[in-house]
Amino acid sequence: MSEVTLKNVVKRYDKVLAVNSVNFEIRDREFCVIVGPSGCGKSTTLRMIAGLEEITEGEIWIGNKKVNDVPPKDRDIAMVFQNYALYPHMKVKENMSFGLRLRGYTKEEIEQRVSNAANILDINTLLERIPKALSGGQRQRVALGRTIVRKPKVFLFDEPLSNLDAKLRLQMRAELKKLHERLQTTSIYVTHDQVEAMTLGDKIVIMKDGLIQQIADPITIYSKPANKFVAGFIGSPAMNFIDCQVVKKNNNELWLDEGKIQVKAPEEYNDVLMPYVDKPVVFGMRPEDIVDRLYSSISTPDNTVMVTVDVIEPLGNETLLHLTTGKNLFIARVNPYNQIKMHQSLEITFDLSKMHVFDKDTELAII
Ligand SMILES: Nc1ncnc2c1ncn2[C@@H]1O[C@H](COP(=O)(O)OP(=O)(O)OP(=O)(O)O)[C@@H](O)[C@H]1O
Ligand SMILES: [Mg+2]
Repeated sequence: MSEVTLKNVVKRYDKVLAVNSVNFEIRDREFCVIVGPSGCGKSTTLRMIAGLEEITEGEIWIGNKKVNDVPPKDRDIAMVFQNYALYPHMKVKENMSFGLRLRGYTKEEIEQRVSNAANILDINTLLERIPKALSGGQRQRVALGRTIVRKPKVFLFDEPLSNLDAKLRLQMRAELKKLHERLQTTSIYVTHDQVEAMTLGDKIVIMKDGLIQQIADPITIYSKPANKFVAGFIGSPAMNFIDCQVVKKNNNELWLDEGKIQVKAPEEYNDVLMPYVDKPVVFGMRPEDIVDRLYSSISTPDNTVMVTVDVIEPLGNETLLHLTTGKNLFIARVNPYNQIKMHQSLEITFDLSKMHVFDKDTELAII
């Protein structure tokens, strides 16, 4: 079994608290992605799991073994770095077999493993070349090959695709997914790219300033972000945030009121919103949950707002509208065939069954 468990793991560099009491568990065979902005502590976390960085406090377990004091080479893990770290003077074949030779495997075993990995990664024809004679994508494959041949308990990846151009990155992303399906090796993958996190992860760990913000599967992260940071970080274009107040009207209606924007919260949310009456909250809507009233079947006066179209961005499969009302600026993602002109007034409908509301002070999700 190759679960990986972090218990209250802390990393301090003098005054910098790089990782702040992190707890999580990665199940055997799981693909876990750690994602967050630059400097949030992703690489440090990974390097501590690899044993390349000492832990200031806490425990790291791989399988049923506490590895705090186990040197990297005895942890049975393999790491793939952003810069590939191939030996420039060695042929591909030698790069791939180097680790096995060091560990004293027989010649037959080495040949068999290298040929097997080369087949999986489709690099059979490159084995006699040196790294300089390879493209970026091919080098990345060799770096992967070098880790596969070791058959480690756990793969660690630190932004392995960030040196590739956009198209190749997409292709390698799909290949990594296939590779994981085939090998089923427990994997921990670090990236600052939220699309990579969403597409690759069975489980996503979102970090900010050394702290874990949320751990969940991709769909939960997207549809039920735990706080405003996660809501804004995952999804492109980002979720729209509108500062407003909760206002009680008529008998028992709770409205989100910004002045220009006034919408009635669905009744099912009354209980959670009641403590916020007359208090500021942040109202969040994803771009795809804002629709042109003319093309909407759910419009009512309680969820529809008049705005001005500021910018139109046709992307072919969809069109992004930059909309303004008063001091609010937000983005809607609409059907490209909607007839919309720059600077026109537009009635838009918020799909409030998809709304998010955050506490203004703690930024934690209320809805
Ligand atoms: N050797 C070091 N000495 C001092 N501070 C360090 C050291 N290594 C990392 N840090 C600090 O620890 C914090 C976390 O760094 P880390 O490299 O883990 O971030 P990251 O999330 O991987 O960022 P990126 O996306 O830019 O790679 C940063 O503030 C960084 O400056
Ligand atoms: Mg990093």
